[in-house]
Amino acid sequence: MHKKEIIIEPFKIKSVQSIKMNTASERLDILKKASFNLFKIDSRDVIIDLLTDSGTGAMSSEQWAGIMRGDESYAGSPSFSFFESTIQDIFGYEHVIPTHQGRAAERILFSIMCKKGDIVPSNAHFDTTRANIEFQGAEALDLIPDNFLDTQLEHPFKGDMDVKKLEVLLNENAKNLSKIPLIMMTITNNSGGGQPVSMKNIREVSEVAKKYNIPFYIDACRFSENAYFIKQRDEKYKDVSIEKIVKEIFSYADGCTMSAKKDGIANIGGFLCTNNEELAIKKKNLLILTEGFPTYGGLAGRDLEAIAIGLKESVDVDYLQYRITSTAYLGRKISEAGVPIMQPPGGHAIYIDAKLFLPHVKVSEYPGQALACQLYVEGGIRTSEIGSFMFGKFDQTTGKEIYADKELVRLAIPRRTYTQSHIDYVVDKIIDTYNKKDAIKGLKITKQPEFLRHFTASLKQIK
Ligand code: F0G
Repeated sequence: MHKKEIIIEPFKIKSVQSIKMNTASERLDILKKASFNLFKIDSRDVIIDLLTDSGTGAMSSEQWAGIMRGDESYAGSPSFSFFESTIQDIFGYEHVIPTHQGRAAERILFSIMCKKGDIVPSNAHFDTTRANIEFQGAEALDLIPDNFLDTQLEHPFKGDMDVKKLEVLLNENAKNLSKIPLIMMTITNNSGGGQPVSMKNIREVSEVAKKYNIPFYIDACRFSENAYFIKQRDEKYKDVSIEKIVKEIFSYADGCTMSAKKDGIANIGGFLCTNNEELAIKKKNLLILTEGFPTYGGLAGRDLEAIAIGLKESVDVDYLQYRITSTAYLGRKISEAGVPIMQPPGGHAIYIDAKLFLPHVKVSEYPGQALACQLYVEGGIRTSEIGSFMFGKFDQTTGKEIYADKELVRLAIPRRTYTQSHIDYVVDKIIDTYNKKDAIKGLKITKQPEFLRHFTASLKQIK
């Protein structure tokens, strides 16, 4: 008889942080004071924080031991040598440049490689990547296949880039290819539902990049989760180790940007890698100007230790099996109850399709943000909207709003932080919210900044 495999958390807990409980009416007051922006709520007023999986993971005892071991020398710290050699070993790149987090690596990369009027194509850029490209006066272009916009479409690698669209773009700009200074690829695709990119697609994009002589960079934030999906969903890789899959992924690219707050399972940190010596020198010069000396780059020696150990732990297959199974469990449970989610479940998060969840709330009334606010009131669960509140833009010249193509609410699962019973609580509260969905009201923005508005904008409920 075939024995059903039971997957449990592959760790024991030896340090805990208490959660303060509050009531729905207290949470409604808190939400109003925060002008319906969940980024403005104190974390002590949150019961289950699924705002992000970034920097919110639980470090292992090995990582804490590394924190104690960290050497804080300004130059030539052994903690940097350990960080550098670990990354060289996992990713296969020669030059490793530490940064305080992912967006600092992005800023350095794009300030060196982009100029005004350039176009940077990707499968889908995340918000900070997009903002850093736009800050250089360049365009951040998403090239997702049209059918992937359907959240209900089942596809094993829904993070893939549309290679045909990429070739059309390059042919259209054939006379002036310097306008496309690099091609990016985000693994897994965060804005597109935490969906993985296939090895085949990474290889094909790399071939196109080589054909046109354009550097190819990977946004590597969730690289080990992507590698696990390749192992799970591509027959050719089922017996290949995660380490080997990771090496192959990065062998197709010229470099990567990384936020170690995700698959580095660290609370802070990032890095930028390249094989190009000339570029590495330029990047390090800019690093010294704004981040720090190249052997610490805006981080403490102890952070470098925690990141190196975390990276090794994130490619452990037992950890990845638990991680991906736990996320899929949440997705399956709410979707069985009728809640429309981006299918199939992603790696680090489940994305609820708010347009389908709240068909009575118009896109101009931010259904994603309205749902995220209601989940907070219902269960003290903090999530993030990934839709028109995050990606929509107010066009100053026309006075009109440009909306995003999807209205999603992301339930991002911090690594090793919550137990199965916390996840079951989240399932129950989402189903309760679904049963009361008709009473949920839309929102209106009352104040917003020019860039990354979702962090600070104020909203009010439409009566
Ligand atoms: N790229 C991707 C795909 C990301 O998801 C993020 C961060 C970054 C780059 C920037 O990294 O935060 O270290 O500067 N995403 C977080 C999130 C904030 O919640 O998804 P960072």
